[in-house]
Amino acid sequence: MISFLKSVIAVSVVTVLLFVVACRPQSKTSGKPDLQVEDLLAKMTLDEKLGQMSQIDPGFAGGEEQLKKAVRDGRYGSFLNMFGVERVNEIQKIAVEESRLGIPLLIGRDVIHGYRTIFPIPLGMAASWNPEIIRKAFRISSIEAASQGIRWTFAPMIDITWDPRWGRIAEGCGEDPYLASSLAKAMVEGIQGENLKDPTAVAACAKHFAGYGFAEAGRDYNTTYIPEPLLRNVVLKPFKAAADAGALTFMSAFNDLNGVPASGNEFTLKKILREEWKYKGMVVSDWGSVTEMINHGFCANEKEAAQKAISAGVDMEMSGSSYSSNAKQLLQENKINQAMIDDAVRYILKVKFDLGLFENPYVNPDLEKSILKPDFLDHARKVARESIVLLKNENNTLPLSNKIGSVAVMGPLADSPRDQLGTWVFDGKAENSVTPLHSLKEFLGGERVNYVQGLSYSRDKSTAAFQKCIAAAKSSDAILFFAGEEWILSGEGQSRGEINIPGAQDELIAELAKTGKPLIVVVMAGRPLAIGNTLKNSDALLYAWHGGTMSGPAISDILFGIESPSGKLPVTFVKGSGQIPFYYYRNNTGRPASEAFYTPIDSIPQINPQSSLGYKSFHLDYGYKPLLPFGYGLSYTTFDYNNLSLSSLSMSASGSVKISATVTNSGERDADEIVQLYIRDRVGSITRPIKELKGFSKVHIRQGEKAKVEFTLYGKDLEFFNGKDYVIEPGEFDVWIGPDSDNGLHGEFTIQ
Ligand code: NOJ
Repeated sequence: MISFLKSVIAVSVVTVLLFVVACRPQSKTSGKPDLQVEDLLAKMTLDEKLGQMSQIDPGFAGGEEQLKKAVRDGRYGSFLNMFGVERVNEIQKIAVEESRLGIPLLIGRDVIHGYRTIFPIPLGMAASWNPEIIRKAFRISSIEAASQGIRWTFAPMIDITWDPRWGRIAEGCGEDPYLASSLAKAMVEGIQGENLKDPTAVAACAKHFAGYGFAEAGRDYNTTYIPEPLLRNVVLKPFKAAADAGALTFMSAFNDLNGVPASGNEFTLKKILREEWKYKGMVVSDWGSVTEMINHGFCANEKEAAQKAISAGVDMEMSGSSYSSNAKQLLQENKINQAMIDDAVRYILKVKFDLGLFENPYVNPDLEKSILKPDFLDHARKVARESIVLLKNENNTLPLSNKIGSVAVMGPLADSPRDQLGTWVFDGKAENSVTPLHSLKEFLGGERVNYVQGLSYSRDKSTAAFQKCIAAAKSSDAILFFAGEEWILSGEGQSRGEINIPGAQDELIAELAKTGKPLIVVVMAGRPLAIGNTLKNSDALLYAWHGGTMSGPAISDILFGIESPSGKLPVTFVKGSGQIPFYYYRNNTGRPASEAFYTPIDSIPQINPQSSLGYKSFHLDYGYKPLLPFGYGLSYTTFDYNNLSLSSLSMSASGSVKISATVTNSGERDADEIVQLYIRDRVGSITRPIKELKGFSKVHIRQGEKAKVEFTLYGKDLEFFNGKDYVIEPGEFDVWIGPDSDNGLHGEFTIQ
């Protein structure tokens, strides 16, 4: 009853507030959005403009009264990490009703892979190669977040990386610019929805612009050196896709790029983003990244930092006061000019107008019901299921029959509700997680599940429970070992030097393998771990990432064959840290390695001596191949690829060619297959990658049936930046359609 009354009161408050806003002449302007912006801008004082350019976390506002006064005085345009219907409406009311111009606040928060319904970490979602389900996942995240007053999220994170040591690999889409671009588009569309004025629309923020994923040695926040062809052909691609998809905002990154910090980088922010891409959205700095330019040694003090960031086109400063404290003086000294300030404010106001915040600044309390809805959880289960990659399945160990007598369930991730949510989860709750243990008990009945945790957390090195685990394994028909990493081992500031499965997990897995019982390992992690030993010791291995709220049921669905696994790796798996970086679109080099020239370092000297014969490009200990290639993933069925066919053997740079293949489901169950199209530009004005993904298609093929999968490749798809220009160069190309980056049917064509 009380809560009913509360919501009635809340609704009536909102109604009244809406009426007040509608009556405020200052915030009601007419005409097209740009005229509205100009109209408002003309009324603003310099202080109010600098206020719009400042964003703060309420916890850093100096106390409640100071916060409210600052809002009343128009000293903030945006808050991050303020949420909750009542709280947001309370502060918004001050901005709208009590500040001179009534400009609404933009409320932002990191909603990276779900708000309360948590989806797999973005790298896991990327393993689904399914833009449709990802779009919907991000839509759901926005619906939930908007119900708490959040109308701006700092997602998608679309930093390409080659480095699994980097903790933030979890947040992105992996190594490939084509896959990441397709998914970036879907993410932006999902976050923002179809109508920006809808109360569930949330402004997206493409981050971190640019190059952050190339931090040296994977140490977070570190220096990046990225030559322009690599920057344009790889790193910037997903950002361009996000801009084209209408992302309302961009975030400038922490790193220094080729000697210039990203938040003061005129080349990326002005030349590329504004001039070349004609981007009209707003740029926010990363947290403190403006003043961190002092640490970078690029600015002497806050004043210079503000000058460089404003001049480069960082419109809003996240968590810092260098703009509000210094811009006036900088103007007086002609170190920045009024047009820079006005442009920044224009971009900021435009976002607020686009989101309909002037007409409708308040959160409707009715939206609060949009949290953890059954269909949201169903979708989380579907996405988690499609993100799972089957990496090994000897003797068809999987799927398990639901008639199995009993299973031994063990490992630190089997029942770890917080860990399965993964990194960057502010609002998801462990109590909503359904763990693998819980879901297996539901599936099989508790009496058929022998649970021994074995290791109490992923880094646990204790062997104390090994014997108990072995005994449980011996008395069961199969072992399900849930290995991996705790959530806190990946994410921002959580980089690792060694990317092995931590603690005594591998040791325990090796012991369990000796029991001779079918051993199924499910890895739940925030990065592609070096899983060589685990792969060797297991009969079957599923890579399930940190799969979110519904990770448990999704894993059970796959274990028992309710659905066949269909995920494919969005990133190359290396054998160990020493092999980093290893990405599939590497260049060929002058000395490409191959089987013929490779002698393993542990070969017996008398039989197979090490030799310098060949001098090829590989590591003596790792060899010349990664552990698992990009795009790899098995299924419970088998797919045969046949009949590669090209509509023409040559095309012009402005033309196109159709490439198709027949994919037959030759196994014993219906399943999805992600069919991949790769090309190679054989000779270029600069050296070109040995393979580049240019298309993919997820197809459902029934058992015994076949599908013709066709891609259209346009001349434009073959364009690249050669250091001077974007070019499509005539010459010969290889083309493959196949199941991963290492296999496929081969053809060729030429560009005239
Ligand atoms: C720092 C992170 O780099 C960025 O991704 C995030 O959006 C901000 N903090 C705000 O939390």
